[in-house]
Amino acid sequence: MQIRHAEPADYGRVIGRVNAWWGGREMAPMLPRLFFVHFEGTSYVLDDEDGQLAAFLIGFLSQTDPEEAYVHFVGVAPEHRGEGLGRRLYERFFEDARGHGRTRVRSVTSPANEESVAFHKALGFEAERVAHDYDGPGEDRVLFVKPLG
Ligand SMILES: CC(C)(COP(=O)(O)OP(=O)(O)OC[C@H]1O[C@@H](n2cnc3c(N)ncnc32)[C@H](O)[C@@H]1OP(=O)(O)O)[C@@H](O)C(=O)NCCC(=O)NCCS
Repeated sequence: MQIRHAEPADYGRVIGRVNAWWGGREMAPMLPRLFFVHFEGTSYVLDDEDGQLAAFLIGFLSQTDPEEAYVHFVGVAPEHRGEGLGRRLYERFFEDARGHGRTRVRSVTSPANEESVAFHKALGFEAERVAHDYDGPGEDRVLFVKPLG
């Protein structure tokens, strides 16, 4: 499977799967089309041999801090989990972020999403802290950071 940049035409394929891939959580409103229009250069998809969406990652270069890049969403089809696709997508993002002079990558996840917490730690992220009400009342988030060596 080859990684390629996400395109606006991928939006419908991704958004139709997001809630199911996140175990029924209502995640789709956090991923509007704009990410596929304005962040193509740092967002990626992987299709399987049948042309079905296997995984995607949506990221961007921070406009506020020239040292940082940020991953907003990463998802892998349930039938392809544990195959290293999430790691491959992140490593491609790290490489491109480094190429743009970035020295740190940040990401946030819900403390309830234990799989995501374990995944980020396996990729070398440090959990800086849990920020209460980070994304609104009751919406706590684990703040992750990883230096790009
Ligand atoms: C989290 C997710 C992206 C992981 O993708 P994946 O392709 O299965 O992960 P990989 O196979 O690349 O695993 C990479 C590393 O993370 C670890 N890991 C992945 N899922 C894990 C889990 N559920 N529990 C513990 N460790 C896990 C693997 O052991 C692996 O470690 P290693 O490389 O040191 O052996 C995938 O489970 C998913 O899409 N979950 C639902 C969506 C979600 O929560 N996304 C993240 C928040 S935006």
